[in-house]
Amino acid sequence: MAATAAALALGGLAGPSAAPAAAATTPYPNLTPTPPMGWNNWSYYGCDISEETVLANARALVSSGLAAKGYDTVTTDDCWMTHTRDADGNLVPDPTRFPHGMAYVGEQLHAMGLKFGIYEDAGTATCGGYPGSYGHIKQDADLFAKWKVDYLKLDGCNVPVPTGQSADDVYHKIYGDMSQALLDTGRPIVYSVSAPAYFEGEKDWHHVISWSAEVGNLWREGADVAMESSSARGKWASIKYNYGYNVPLADLQSPGRWNDPDFLLAGQSRITGDEIRSQMSLWSVMAAPLISSTDLTKASPEALDVLGNKDVIAVDQDAKGLQGRIVQQGDGYDVLSKPLANGDRAVALFNSSDEAQTITTTAAKAGLPAGSSYLLKDLWSKRTTQTTGTIAANVPAHATVLYRVHAGTAHRVQPATAITWTRTGGEGASSTWKVALADHGPTGLTGAQLRISAPEGWRLSTSKVSLGKVRPGGSATATITAKGPDAEPGTTVTTLTATARYRAGGAGDGSVSGRASIVTEVPYPSLDAAFNNVGVTNEAAPPAEGNYTTGNFDGGGDSYSAQALAAAGVTPGAKVSKDGVTWT
Ligand code: GLA
Repeated sequence: MAATAAALALGGLAGPSAAPAAAATTPYPNLTPTPPMGWNNWSYYGCDISEETVLANARALVSSGLAAKGYDTVTTDDCWMTHTRDADGNLVPDPTRFPHGMAYVGEQLHAMGLKFGIYEDAGTATCGGYPGSYGHIKQDADLFAKWKVDYLKLDGCNVPVPTGQSADDVYHKIYGDMSQALLDTGRPIVYSVSAPAYFEGEKDWHHVISWSAEVGNLWREGADVAMESSSARGKWASIKYNYGYNVPLADLQSPGRWNDPDFLLAGQSRITGDEIRSQMSLWSVMAAPLISSTDLTKASPEALDVLGNKDVIAVDQDAKGLQGRIVQQGDGYDVLSKPLANGDRAVALFNSSDEAQTITTTAAKAGLPAGSSYLLKDLWSKRTTQTTGTIAANVPAHATVLYRVHAGTAHRVQPATAITWTRTGGEGASSTWKVALADHGPTGLTGAQLRISAPEGWRLSTSKVSLGKVRPGGSATATITAKGPDAEPGTTVTTLTATARYRAGGAGDGSVSGRASIVTEVPYPSLDAAFNNVGVTNEAAPPAEGNYTTGNFDGGGDSYSAQALAAAGVTPGAKVSKDGVTWT
């Protein structure tokens, strides 16, 4: 976010002359005992909004059943107003976009059983350049209460910081003043504080979050999630980035006081099913607000199913109200665990890498009480299996397996099993693998058969292997070689799949699948051949606002034309460095 710099640049402007007085000490009431849920236009529509768009999405929330599942707050983000206040200093709704005014939008939402959310900014102007609440805090709070607003997102662009004062103090004072002004209206208005987002990564960041948890109910604390127009790569990088800054903040959260890593992208384009399920899983384990930003009138059944997964929503909305934490981390994966009110744990196996892998942890590491049996409910597949302690799954690239883990046993439940592919030799499209079927449950497996499949054009040493018996806690392995056609220039990912079928005593027939990714990288013979195929993302660096793809010369997402590269002085074979990333 560039906003802090912008705020500091305004340092010379008139503002409070003395050091800001200490902000209100009464904590804001806990108006959201569970993380807020709803819809906001911003990431999908940006400023392209209207009464019609907002109300059509509200109707879709109701007709899709999402409202009944908790998505009840509909927030109109920036750009709903005109560029000037009226003669009395009141904000004026844009007469074209919102011909009946904002109170009318609220009435319509209330008539649908929904809550009315609105956006404003603590500075002199909103991020989009419309009048901010600076100098009008009480007046705007009163107006929102009069319009029967239920939820206020107060952004933090363009906050003037007078010379000699700290930005932390100035933001604290203004956000505290709005907190008091909202209280004074007597209307319960959920207060979303964006201040920490303007301090992300700075020394005051945690301090700003700590006072945000006193003046408000939730806070944005980092970069915006990608917009609908972003590239596929940009969207996934942005989900990982926002997860990355949010996940270490569990200490600064408490029940009713929520870290907000920004909107859910389910329903948007250029994002896969695994990616949206990952975001929904991670946000829920982090007890994040679940705020969809998409066109719900056109969202696919898959996207609506992801948003509407009741078991996953229950993890997010759990009454204990605690953000989950990382309990184990490795190369390209994180394991998170969230304590739940009934003593269960939600355990997420998050594969952040670009290749399938088997992620393995234990009930003890996930914080479950010592015991000899645990039930694992996979909250996406809905299958329940039983383990004696190992929690493992083969997880596709960018996917998350989310279990609800319960200490205990049940009859006739399949044992928890997992497939692991380990590459033991070969190179490029020619590889040798050890494929293991492990039994983590209390019951042994008999008659285990392994079937291997590969895409057309690939040759396997065998596609069917008999593994026989696997004892509880044991495993059986097969060796497979796979050979593919000569790889095309660029990066190619090929997936091999192993599916094991077996009988597990009284629990009957069971099965499990696991994938391996074969990644080949073949250089392009010439710049012309690389047309539309050269791209680099530096996921280690904070994405600059609106551009998550470094090295993006032509502004076209993942598309780099030979002409654009040539215009930037690139010749075939040359080394190019941009934003800390170097490629040939
Ligand atoms: C900031 C916020 C976004 C959105 C825009 C509106 O960037 O972080 O969520 O509200 O402003 O201009």
